[in-house]
Amino acid sequence: MIIRKLTPLCLGCFASILLLSLTTSQFAMAQEKDMDSLWGDQAIKMRADGVKSVELFDVGNYAMFIHWGLYSQVANKVDGKTYYGIGEWIMNPRMAGIPRDKYKGLAKTFNPVKFNAKEIVALAKDAGMKNIVITSKHHDGFAMYDSDACDFNVVDATPWSTDPMKDLATACAEAGLGFGFYYSHNQDWTFPGGGGGPDKDENGDAADFDDYFKKKCLPQIEEITTKYGPISIVWFDTPGKMPKEYVQQLVDLVHKNQPNALVSGRAGHNLGDYQTLGDMEVPVANVEGLWESVDTTNDSWAYAWYDQYWKSPKEILHRLVSCVGRGGTYMLNIGPRGDGSVPERAAKSLRGAGKWIAKYPQVVYGTDPSPWGHSLAWGDVTTKGDKMFLTVFEWPASGKLYLPGLQTEIKSAQLLGGEAPVSVSHSKANGWTILELPGRAPEKLASVVEVTLAGPAKVESAYGIDPEISTEISATFADATGVNKEDKRWMEKFGEWKRVVQFDQWNAEGKATWTIEIAEPGEYNVDLKYRGEGRVVWGVAVQGGEKIQNQQNSSHNYQAFPIGWVNFPKAGQYKIDVTCVEGNFEAASLTAINFTPVK
Ligand code: GLC
Repeated sequence: MIIRKLTPLCLGCFASILLLSLTTSQFAMAQEKDMDSLWGDQAIKMRADGVKSVELFDVGNYAMFIHWGLYSQVANKVDGKTYYGIGEWIMNPRMAGIPRDKYKGLAKTFNPVKFNAKEIVALAKDAGMKNIVITSKHHDGFAMYDSDACDFNVVDATPWSTDPMKDLATACAEAGLGFGFYYSHNQDWTFPGGGGGPDKDENGDAADFDDYFKKKCLPQIEEITTKYGPISIVWFDTPGKMPKEYVQQLVDLVHKNQPNALVSGRAGHNLGDYQTLGDMEVPVANVEGLWESVDTTNDSWAYAWYDQYWKSPKEILHRLVSCVGRGGTYMLNIGPRGDGSVPERAAKSLRGAGKWIAKYPQVVYGTDPSPWGHSLAWGDVTTKGDKMFLTVFEWPASGKLYLPGLQTEIKSAQLLGGEAPVSVSHSKANGWTILELPGRAPEKLASVVEVTLAGPAKVESAYGIDPEISTEISATFADATGVNKEDKRWMEKFGEWKRVVQFDQWNAEGKATWTIEIAEPGEYNVDLKYRGEGRVVWGVAVQGGEKIQNQQNSSHNYQAFPIGWVNFPKAGQYKIDVTCVEGNFEAASLTAINFTPVK
């Protein structure tokens, strides 16, 4: 590191590097210590043993994303006008379109005196998160660390002139958490030649991507992979049309400097070490291989003053357990304010979910996907060897928990959470396993039944329709005949991504067919979730059985409308054909069917 100014900061930097190395030797001592927590020391041990971060990623299953930068002090309000959408894009013409020089001038007022690395790491630990990935340089080009490659950074350009990444890296190492950097490698809206940046340099000479890459991007990846100790992940983002040879150089540099680090799935050209799904998406069906979902505690990555729509502890837990149940890792974001403080509601929700995880670590850490391949009406399932963890978010009023098509014999089952585990009896009927639970759930957020099987869980079943609780089945699980089935992604507010699978381009012959498994014969009300224009007549036909149809209105948003009751005369498998009978076929887009037992 070139010492530009002998300030206390640089001495501080040396101290923190020294501290980092001390904590590395502490890791060695930690190995003798007994495991006083399922994960803390294990993480220290893994990092000390140089275990690839893939274990940290694939065993930890839960990480903190942090979006923090100059945009955080803007908080989506520019000259008194609020812009709705993801706050880190505020400079971009698709949001406020702040002129470059005006945006760069924001550095002069960036003074996050409330930033506290130890508090943030303590929050991540309380939340049950095992890794922290923070924005080192976002699309705006501002480096949130002490960069020699470009003075548009938090040390050189702000009155704060502190490198928060030193403190955060040290605090993570002490706490046994992984520490990684987000880096926007293609977009750079303020550096000449960067993606979306100026095409001339300060001398008015033409600048191209190669200039940006050689003068800023590559040197900064060298910096963030050499100045902050062991790095768990370098999280590249929005590769756009970045040529492969550039991406390859970055990936090679990360693997050279940080052999244990992972490169995110958004490096480009499939050069990442795992798959990163679309923003704010938890998949409805299991996904193979190593992958992550990235999500927000509200609806914006960076702090936005108006965005108070926070995920509750229960919602965080449900998305986390379902993500792990689909086979993935869940990275959940916080957006600290411009002053460095963490929104209190986000912290409260994270801690609420974290308390539950601390009580049931076996549900989240080191577990494998659900054998059903999707969530169930009452909750979700994670597995580990011959264990199955049933996480119940909706408690069945009758106390009967239904498992469709479980082939593996249950040796024992117990409801956790009380003073002592409560043994749970089970029976089988029509290919379903029914667990008898007490009338009241022991937990407010979610209750866990731990099932010990005679071997790894094996399931053979069509999509089970719970006889107690409403079952919604996504179009993902249906077959199309004469109708188009497609993946649809759109933005609610700017940057707030949603995704569904839908049937569209309807015609008189088209149909969507769901194959389902009925446990209890009887009447079930059918809803269809769709969007469209005007009134639409939908048909719902049980193959070989009842056919109903009904006209309902439609919304431009996906909305569930009742079609009516259908009767299933006996338990077993049925095929349900849905057709669009009348109305605006072009506009009709069907995304789910819902079966609710008529009590
Ligand atoms: C998108 C956004 C970016 C954000 C990222 C988080 O790529 O462009 O602003 O950091 O999602 O996953």
